Amino acid sequence: MALLNRLIPLVLRLRDVHPPTYHFLVRTGKRLLGSRLGVYPRVMGNEVAAVTDVLRGGQWNMVYGRGLAHERLEADFAEYVGVPHAIAVGTGGLGLAMSMRALGVRPGDEVIHQVDTCSATALSVMNAAGTPIFADIADSSFMLDPASVEQWRGPQTRALIATHMWGNPEDMRTLRSLADGAGIRLIEDACLGLGARVQGRPAGAWGDVGVFSFGCIKPIQGGEGGMIVTGDESLARELRAMRHWGDRTIEYGVRDVLQPAWNGRMSEIVAAVVREQLRGYPAHLSSLREGVARFAGFLRRLPGLSLVLGHGGSVEDSALTQVVLRIDERAAGITKQALWDGLAGRGVQLWHANFEPIGSLGLFKGGEWRQWIVRGDHDRIGRNYAHHFEVADRVYRSTGLGLGKMNFLSRGNVEHLERSLGEVFARAGVPGPAAAPETSTAESVVGPRGAR
Ligand SMILES: Cc1ncc(COP(=O)(O)O)c(C=O)c1O
Repeated sequence: MALLNRLIPLVLRLRDVHPPTYHFLVRTGKRLLGSRLGVYPRVMGNEVAAVTDVLRGGQWNMVYGRGLAHERLEADFAEYVGVPHAIAVGTGGLGLAMSMRALGVRPGDEVIHQVDTCSATALSVMNAAGTPIFADIADSSFMLDPASVEQWRGPQTRALIATHMWGNPEDMRTLRSLADGAGIRLIEDACLGLGARVQGRPAGAWGDVGVFSFGCIKPIQGGEGGMIVTGDESLARELRAMRHWGDRTIEYGVRDVLQPAWNGRMSEIVAAVVREQLRGYPAHLSSLREGVARFAGFLRRLPGLSLVLGHGGSVEDSALTQVVLRIDERAAGITKQALWDGLAGRGVQLWHANFEPIGSLGLFKGGEWRQWIVRGDHDRIGRNYAHHFEVADRVYRSTGLGLGKMNFLSRGNVEHLERSLGEVFARAGVPGPAAAPETSTAESVVGPRGAR
C-alpha cells in the first residue's frame, strides 16, 4: 500500500506527459485495486446489470407510466430524503433553473446565494432569467452569512439559495425563518449534500425545493443527472411538465406551453446507474465518515489545522463530499500555498474549501452581465458584483482547504494523507503530530456485484 501511494505522484505526472498511458493506468487501477485504493466512482456489478436491463428493455428515454427506471429512482430518492415528491432531471444546474422558474422567478427578480459557491448556481439563476445577487459567508462555518443576506436583500429579492457546500449542512432553521419572514422562496442547493442532516432532518427537505446533482465530484455519480425534491404536489406537477419543454399534455391533459422551459429529462440509462448508487450510498457514507472520524483524531495533534463541518459541527451530519479544513497560517507555521504544494506533490487529492468568489469571473467582473440581465437596478447589481466579500475572499486565499473524499475511502489512503501532512509540516520546520498515526478498522466501501 505504501508503495502504491508513492506511485501516485508519478502517475499524476503522466497525466501531462502522456495522457493515454495515464488514463490506461487509472482505468486498470480502478478496476483491479478500486477497493484497496478507495477510489470513487468505480465500475460496480450492480450498475452494469441495471444498465444492461435498460438497454435490453429497449426503452432508453424518459416516458411515463410504465414503472421505468427513473420512476423507481424517484420513489427511492423521495424516501431517502423523506420528501413526498422527487423529479428526476438532466443535471443539478438544470434542476436549479427549473425550480426557480416553477417558483415564479421572472426577469428582474433577484435570487441571493453565497458568493463562493459553484458558478453553476449563479448561471442557473441567469438561465431562469433571474438576477443572481451575492452574499458573504460566515467565518465560523464557511457558509452563508444571514447578516450579509439581510444586507443585500432588496425589493426585487424573490428567492434565497442555501448551499450545503461540499456536503456540510447549512443552518436551515435560521434560513427558513429568514425566508419566511421576508416572504421569499427558499431553495436548497444540495448538489453536493446528499446524506447531510440538519437537526435530524435530511438536507433537501427544508426548502420549498431541494436540488441534487449526480455529476462529476458529487456525492453519488451517474455520469450526470439531477433530482428535485419538494413537498408541494402542484409544484411537482409543474416541474414534471417543465422537463418536457413545458408541454402540459401529460400532467394536465392540455397540449400547451405557458412559459419557456427545457429538455430536463433524465436518460433511463443514467437513472439505472443512479438508483444503484443510491442503494449503496448509506454504506459508502458510513465508511467515509469512519475515515474522517479517524483523521479528526490525528488532526487534533497538528497545530493550526481543524475540520470545518457546517451547522451542527458533526462528522455524522455532513456528507463530506470534500472534507473542509481551516488553516490558521500563523499557528500552523505554514502557508496555505505551501501546504497545498506539499500535499499535491505527494498525490493527495485536494482543492479549495469553497469556490472562488463568483464576482471574480469575467462575466461578472467585466460588464458582460449587462447584456444578459436586462431588467433591474443595474447600479445596485453592479455594486454587488464589484463588492469585496471579505470572508469568502480570505477563505479562498488563505484559510480554507478541501480534501477530496478519496483520501478517506480506505485505510491506506487515510494513512497516506496523515503521513503526507506529517512530512509537509516537518519540511516546514513545524513539529509534527505528537504520536504515530492510530490504526483503524475502516476499510474501503466499494466492491464487486452485491457488495459495497
Ligand atoms: C454547489 C453546486 N451547485 C450546482 C452544481 C451544478 O450541478 P450540475 O453539474 O449537475 O449541473 C454544482 C456542480 O458542480 C455545484 O457544485
